[in-house]
Amino acid sequence: MTTARKTPEELRSHQWYGSSISSGLRSFSHRARTRQLGYLPEEHLGKPVIAILNTWSDINPCHVHLRDRAQAVKRGVWQAGGFPLEFPVSTLSETFQKPTPMLYRNLLAMETEELLRSYPVDGAVLMGGCDKSTPALLMGAATVDLPTVFVPAGPMLPGHWRNEVLGSGTDMWKYWDDKRAGLIGDCEMAELENGLARSPGHCMTMGTASTLTAAAETLGVTVPGASSIPAVDSGHDRMAAASGLRIVDMVWDDLKLSKLLTADAYEDAVATVLALGGSTNAVIHLIAMAGRSGVTLTLDDFDRIARTVPVLANLRPGGRYLMEDFHFAGGLPAFLAQLTDVLHLDRPTVSCTTMREQLEGAQVHNPDVIRPRSNPLADEGGVAVLRGNLCPDGAVIKHIAAEPHLLKHTGPAVVFDDYRTMQRTINDPDLGITADHVLVLRNSGPKGGPGMPEYGMLPIPDHLLKQGVRDMVRISDARMSGTSYGACVLHIAPESYVGGPLALVRTGDRITLDVEARTLHLDVTDEELAQRKAVWTPPPARYERGYGALYNEQITQADTGCDFAFLARPGEVHDPYAG
Ligand code: FES
Ligand code: MG
Repeated sequence: MTTARKTPEELRSHQWYGSSISSGLRSFSHRARTRQLGYLPEEHLGKPVIAILNTWSDINPCHVHLRDRAQAVKRGVWQAGGFPLEFPVSTLSETFQKPTPMLYRNLLAMETEELLRSYPVDGAVLMGGCDKSTPALLMGAATVDLPTVFVPAGPMLPGHWRNEVLGSGTDMWKYWDDKRAGLIGDCEMAELENGLARSPGHCMTMGTASTLTAAAETLGVTVPGASSIPAVDSGHDRMAAASGLRIVDMVWDDLKLSKLLTADAYEDAVATVLALGGSTNAVIHLIAMAGRSGVTLTLDDFDRIARTVPVLANLRPGGRYLMEDFHFAGGLPAFLAQLTDVLHLDRPTVSCTTMREQLEGAQVHNPDVIRPRSNPLADEGGVAVLRGNLCPDGAVIKHIAAEPHLLKHTGPAVVFDDYRTMQRTINDPDLGITADHVLVLRNSGPKGGPGMPEYGMLPIPDHLLKQGVRDMVRISDARMSGTSYGACVLHIAPESYVGGPLALVRTGDRITLDVEARTLHLDVTDEELAQRKAVWTPPPARYERGYGALYNEQITQADTGCDFAFLARPGEVHDPYAG
């Protein structure tokens, strides 16, 4: 790619710093204050200012190494002749933040956007990886549209217990069910607590974090091969330094995010996520990210593309291996090299080449981890989109992680009005729940959750677990952790809290799931549903003040990405020094 190089006077930061004393009091003040920071003028004047947005925090084990890693990014920026400045931004810790970090994804997106806009920034390096961090940072950055590189936090090391390899999340659910079924006790659980998460880094299954960082790499906003490097590998330091080196040139070349985040790039990210058997959360996040890039991505795009790609990554929760295995099997470049017939290869990436050049020579070193097209894990991509009278605006199911006999199933509903009630009563023998029942949870969507928590993998009742039942049809307007599994219909839109049909289901109604036909049907007549709707009363608002009230007012439904309406709409926001 050849583009005209910028001159120092054309840098955005020049508007703050100026190049000489004669440029006025304002730049005099900014230069004086940069001296106060301890920098000589020759260390920064006329150099691209690179903002490093760091989601490091003591409370976030997935990002706890990023404080150190930012030093490697700075090293790269200095070497390339830029001026790095680190900005601490909100951390979204999937484990600790309640009720769910999804409530705060848009807050970090807003913080990213406003911070990049209001400070003297020429280019950005975004550091994150734990679930919502990746979409939040990219949504904000896409809106501002500066040259940007994403530095993925990297997966943690594989877990271990008594010679078993453990996947964070996935094996937690599995062994918790074993404990409830009486197969293991407190002693084993104490050992598992030690072995489940051994190092800094995000979840090392193909959960939401690995899915979204792989999507970022596919979009072309990371250096090649970045997303699977284990967080504590010295290669992760080198990747961070390479990102710092690269961003400076990207500023001079004016390689803005909008040149990378095209409709083709989003199509490729969808194909990759589906071929990885990735997290259902990616559906919501990619739709929201695309929206910020001016690209319309819909649920139907996911279903359409799913039919064109097989699942080729043998990774938990749908498969066997973990992210370190994927990395040593060749990582994402080797994986994408299996999909060249469906990808748009002539699009640019941060690497200064096209995706085609980037994938040249990529090799699979373990064909059981990254499967060839001739030996897929599943013939179709990992997510199906459902429609029907229960979900007029759509719902999703990760059918590859469900027991196949449930993919076409009719059963009577057992309805839980909210998560707490469900937790309190699901083991009540008086409910008479059998393996044929369909468990229904409502008031767990974007507004009703609030924040659409990951409640969608409803627990199997204890008495059924003891009989060996490990999967049932479960439906909700919630999300599900990327590390979860089961015949869980998720993201029902519109949600019950705003009066979607899910609000009208009654215990005993029959529900039919038919994944092949892509339908979810409530066997109740339209007249009956209309009567039920007429007597339905909306629940009270969740929040009266503060961020929650803003969230409640602005959040959009799952099928459109759960962005805030006022952030998703098009319109200009001017640079502080423009015009
Ligand atoms: Fe951070 Fe899973 S808890 S990625
Ligand atoms: Mg998760």
